[in-house]
Amino acid sequence: MEQIDIISTLQVYDNLEELSDDIQNLMKTAIEARENAYAPYSKFKVGAAILLEDNQIVTGNNQENAAYPSGLCAERIAIFHASAMHPNKNVITIAITAKSENKILRIPTPPCGACRQVMVEYEIKQDQPIAIYFMAEKGKVIKVDSIKALLPLVFDPSFL
Ligand code: THU
Repeated sequence: MEQIDIISTLQVYDNLEELSDDIQNLMKTAIEARENAYAPYSKFKVGAAILLEDNQIVTGNNQENAAYPSGLCAERIAIFHASAMHPNKNVITIAITAKSENKILRIPTPPCGACRQVMVEYEIKQDQPIAIYFMAEKGKVIKVDSIKALLPLVFDPSFL
């Protein structure tokens, strides 16, 4: 038997102001997108902003549905939006933020597993890592240099 430890590196910032102006701007765009989320069922709004290689920013927010599984997360809407509109532009950075109507969220809200899997697909496609920054409504911001830090043992096209 061999034991393998998987180590992921996360960078934790105390608040948004610790980050560069460009990242603050991207996160502010994600906050604006978050406010337009359609989340009447969960009351949990998520916004995502994607910086492309040509400095364009593409956004997404969660869209819910009375048939619950028909809704979609902010991150997937944002990255599908980016791929649909700008299929040949690499994604450099994604900023994500969440806010609940039920409580003040302070613990950075990471993307769900399905969104991680979708983000990895584009990272592999473009053969360049995507930096992810995520935060709640307030407080600390977590950065990973690649989505793979959040999704070790990824299922990727090489298995097919
Ligand atoms: N949600 C996201 O938009 N992103 C995530 O990574 C986690 C969850 C949305 C889906 C649903 O509309 C609401 O948050 C509650 O799960």
